[in-house]
Amino acid sequence: MPAHLKQLFMLCLLLLAACGGGTEAAPPTPTLSPQAQTGKQVFSRVCGACHSTSPDTIIVGPSLAGVATRAETRVEGQDAYTYLLTSVMQPDAYLVQGYENLMPNNLSKELTGEELDAVVAYLQTLK
Ligand code: HEC
Repeated sequence: MPAHLKQLFMLCLLLLAACGGGTEAAPPTPTLSPQAQTGKQVFSRVCGACHSTSPDTIIVGPSLAGVATRAETRVEGQDAYTYLLTSVMQPDAYLVQGYENLMPNNLSKELTGEELDAVVAYLQTLK
């Protein structure tokens, strides 16, 4: 193959590689696990009237943006999962400073076990 054709051939290969690589390098869209996805639906149905997931947006209850991170240190001796589950099962066990005890305390009876697990799994994604 003459040298200039060889160069052209290499250029084509490079271009192809560049384009192919470009689409592969796009970051994957973060997706929720099927359980957290179910939890998100439970959340909008049962909790969304009082809680926003946008930062600093107070409805009746505090914004739950970043709650998974706060939950790690909210109550001494409780890990994030325990704190979040307790927040739903027994909302008056710990009251967020500046808020009244307005969260319904019958949610643990209104939701199925699966819905509870799912909503807590969803809360754990709000880092
Ligand atoms: C009628 C309004 C209302 C509803 C409905 C409600 N909450 Fe709340 N929630 C509150 C209020 C008010 C507080 C703050 C007082 C307290 O700590 O209980 C709160 C606190 C919380 C906290 C603690 C937040 C923190 O920063 O520590 C979590 C977690 C939470 N709610 C989750 C939920 C989930 C999940 C649901 C639905 C299953 C729900 N809430 C439904 C009003 C509500």
